[in-house]
Amino acid sequence: MMDYHEHMKQYYDRRASEYEHNESFREEPSEDLPGLLHAISLLPPARVLDVACGTGFLTQHLGSNLTGLDQSKAMLEAARRRVPWAEFVRGDAFRMPFADHSFDTVFASFFYGLLPLEDRGRFLEEASRVGQELILVEPTPEWTPSGRVEGWEERGLSDGSRYEIYRRYFTADAFAEELDGRILFAGRWMVMAKVSG
Ligand SMILES: C[S@@+](CC[C@H](N)C(=O)[O-])C[C@H]1O[C@@H](n2cnc3c(N)ncnc32)[C@H](O)[C@@H]1O
Repeated sequence: MMDYHEHMKQYYDRRASEYEHNESFREEPSEDLPGLLHAISLLPPARVLDVACGTGFLTQHLGSNLTGLDQSKAMLEAARRRVPWAEFVRGDAFRMPFADHSFDTVFASFFYGLLPLEDRGRFLEEASRVGQELILVEPTPEWTPSGRVEGWEERGLSDGSRYEIYRRYFTADAFAEELDGRILFAGRWMVMAKVSG
């Protein structure tokens, strides 16, 4: 059987074209976007790496000294169109093709919570190897009808294929505690935290 990471990568690669037409945010969560973008705009200028950048939806707001990494060729094609001034690299978030301390800030949105607990620590270690500080954005439990904080979700694509995807949702308190980090934005739908290396 394909391991979970390969399964999840395949899901996002196949979803890339749908992601573009049907943005990642549903209508209601977009009420948090002005606050999130404001908090992002307050980050000091830095060499930024956006890990698992997807179609570049948030990458475009991360400044001018910018690199995006994703495993999906299709996602990167969309990101390159959207953020032509950034450099984009195809690679694995657990073994990034960058030297130690190549970046001031490593940013990752809507990625960390896709990782089962045992992988989240591995990702934090890899992020702290390539960058000085890490900024993470994740959805809150508000996204789930039951307010449940973690579990496997069945996701379907328009070609009829089905995928089981793990997702953890974080309240601001749970996020700060797990990361031993500082909350930079706490909205109803999204939370952003900074983890210092
Ligand atoms: C939910 S999307 C988030 C995209 C983007 N950060 C955003 O906020 O819209 C998750 C992304 O993680 C990427 N991804 C999944 N596993 C990965 C891995 N091991 N290495 C690099 N990228 C990965 C997928 O290709 C997908 O683009």
